[in-house]
Amino acid sequence: MTDNSTPFAGQHVVVTGGSSGIGRAAALIFARQGAETVFITGRDAERLKEAATLHPNLVPVVADVATAEGADAVEAAVAAGPGVVDVLVHNAGITKKTPIGRVNMADVMTVLGTNLIGPLLLTDRLLARLRTPGASIVFVTSVEGHRPPPFGSSVYAASKAGGEAFTRAWAVELGEKGIRVNAVAPGVTRTDAAVRAGFSPADAQLALEIFSQATVAGRPGEPEEVASWITRLAEPGSAYVTGQVISVDGGIELAGLPMKRPMKPRP
Ligand SMILES: NC(=O)c1ccc[n+]([C@@H]2O[C@H](COP(=O)([O-])OP(=O)(O)OC[C@H]3O[C@@H](n4cnc5c(N)ncnc54)[C@H](OP(=O)(O)O)[C@@H]3O)[C@@H](O)[C@H]2O)c1
Repeated sequence: MTDNSTPFAGQHVVVTGGSSGIGRAAALIFARQGAETVFITGRDAERLKEAATLHPNLVPVVADVATAEGADAVEAAVAAGPGVVDVLVHNAGITKKTPIGRVNMADVMTVLGTNLIGPLLLTDRLLARLRTPGASIVFVTSVEGHRPPPFGSSVYAASKAGGEAFTRAWAVELGEKGIRVNAVAPGVTRTDAAVRAGFSPADAQLALEIFSQATVAGRPGEPEEVASWITRLAEPGSAYVTGQVISVDGGIELAGLPMKRPMKPRP
């Protein structure tokens, strides 16, 4: 029996990158709102184990989303458990600087593999296990996917734009099975992502402050504020919403950020 506070009662959910930040916050909301099983994935087994202590319905699965073996591991966990997936959240993501003129192909492949190819592999692997009709896929993209800043992160931007293209294309392709596909595009959100990307804690804090000043809200988003839109798009009450990308960014896209630098005039 579902009510407004438990829209995911009896459902089974997969959240990639569920061991920290936005993914962990989303996994917790799913579990608190009734989901029976919430598989959380990541590469670091210890961090996953720690996150799984936050709610008894969280199930850790060590899986590198950028590999076919990772997709196999998630599918095997689902097969050994509920056998079916109601909600699939493609949240795992990574950012690396790839300035043109100094492109490192290993970094390029890591970013594209994690943010773009991985979701394709996992969706393909899990398709037969997605509940039809009724399953919901939610991508976590980024405002950078549709409003790229001039900071040498074009590959990250392309990976996120690709996620938004998958969102729209799969909404159409999988619609006949009764599967909905939507995306949440966060702006600057208070997580450890920048430190993981190689920034020092001080630089990460500075970047957070600079970006926050460029928002209408005047502050960074909290992981829970992004996560609550992931779950909202996934819940049965959103049955008439598909193929949409919702920016949850405190208005940074409208306010303009230091998004552009003046073009150098021709000599
Ligand atoms: N924070 C922001 O300001 C912001 C803004 C826009 C968009 N986003 C997007 O939001 C999503 C979540 O980011 P976050 O800020 O919450 O980052 P986070 O705190 O660094 O969390 C990232 C999660 O992804 C997992 N992950 C990374 N690479 C993985 C891989 N190859 N396989 C499996 N799991 C992997 C990490 O676990 P392991 O390291 O253990 O694998 C971790 O659980 C990402 O897609 C990010 O691009 C974030």
